[in-house]
Amino acid sequence: MARIIDIASRDAQEAAIGELRAGRCIAIPTETVYGLAADATNGVGVATIFAMKGRPRFNPLICHVDGLAMAETIGVFDPVSRKLADHFWPGPLTLVVALRKDSDVHDLVTAGLDTVAIRAPAGPSQAVIHAFGKPLAAPSANRSGRISPTQARHVGDEYHDEPLLVLDAGPAKVGLESTIVKVGNGHIVLLRPGGICKEELEALSGLPVIEPQASTGIVAPGMLESHYAPEAGMVLDIRDCPQGAALLAFGSGKGKDRSRASCIRNLSEAGDLAEAAAGLYSLMKELDAGHPKLIAVEPIPAEGLGVAINDRLKRAAAPRPDKDQTR
Ligand code: TXA
Ligand code: MG
Repeated sequence: MARIIDIASRDAQEAAIGELRAGRCIAIPTETVYGLAADATNGVGVATIFAMKGRPRFNPLICHVDGLAMAETIGVFDPVSRKLADHFWPGPLTLVVALRKDSDVHDLVTAGLDTVAIRAPAGPSQAVIHAFGKPLAAPSANRSGRISPTQARHVGDEYHDEPLLVLDAGPAKVGLESTIVKVGNGHIVLLRPGGICKEELEALSGLPVIEPQASTGIVAPGMLESHYAPEAGMVLDIRDCPQGAALLAFGSGKGKDRSRASCIRNLSEAGDLAEAAAGLYSLMKELDAGHPKLIAVEPIPAEGLGVAINDRLKRAAAPRPDKDQTR
């Protein structure tokens, strides 16, 4: 049984630190999604993350820190990366930087790469990391390939049969994973769109933000095509909902036909992208819980946070090699 406790309760921090010191995983809230965390220097703890998620070992994890000083004990920050961290931390930005040779981050965290992904999450987990005094390795707290959890009870449902301590800080405010970037020579490579959009990064750094190119050889190994997947099939960019499909709507119904939907959830009546991002995963889960054959999604504008929302929807709708034959 997962044990969900309010992160603001008296014993929460001590209980969390006890688990981490013992080499066990805990679930922590962040402003993006809930994470499954362990001491980044503890091989047993980190191996447990991979085992619990069913995550391939070649896919490295993000180290969560309480700020830049802790980050610099494990990574080498060039001036642009430092400027980005200074401005956007705590917040939904992950920086991939060179791994310090004297860092004691376990090899499993970086999957043996000579770089490390680091971010300082906003919210009450910051105090837990600070009190623990070491970075926490944490992927999103869903089983590999499934929808990321934005509420403590999502994590509880995912791991209901495991003795996992889940710290609860309410629904995640951003609701989409962090933006991952790596600063290159005169540009910034966007490895994963997320809570901070390209325009914000360009405005602060004065550098162009570019897509990963085969020639740079930099990719986030975890950007597998199929991800964030509900049980139901998904179709995107639908204006007129097909008969019997569950509908993930966006904006007012003007110019759209919703009359044939079996069930409707609206990401944002007002067409607000931040509201849509914050609700995306929980509304996908709600629709999926009704076991529809199909979830149809209305078009989402590809601007600002809409880029990250569309990225996640595209992966959720991608063919799933292990499942498609049976559906
Ligand atoms: O918002 C978030 O980033 C959440 C919360 C829990 O912090 N975490 C998260 O972690 O989304 P995860 O493991 O689901 O995604 C981390 C991504 C993966 O695609 C992984 O391949 C990439 O980061 N990554 C990690 N280390 C990397 C590295 N050294 N170079 C390139 N990509 C890296
Ligand atoms: Mg994930």
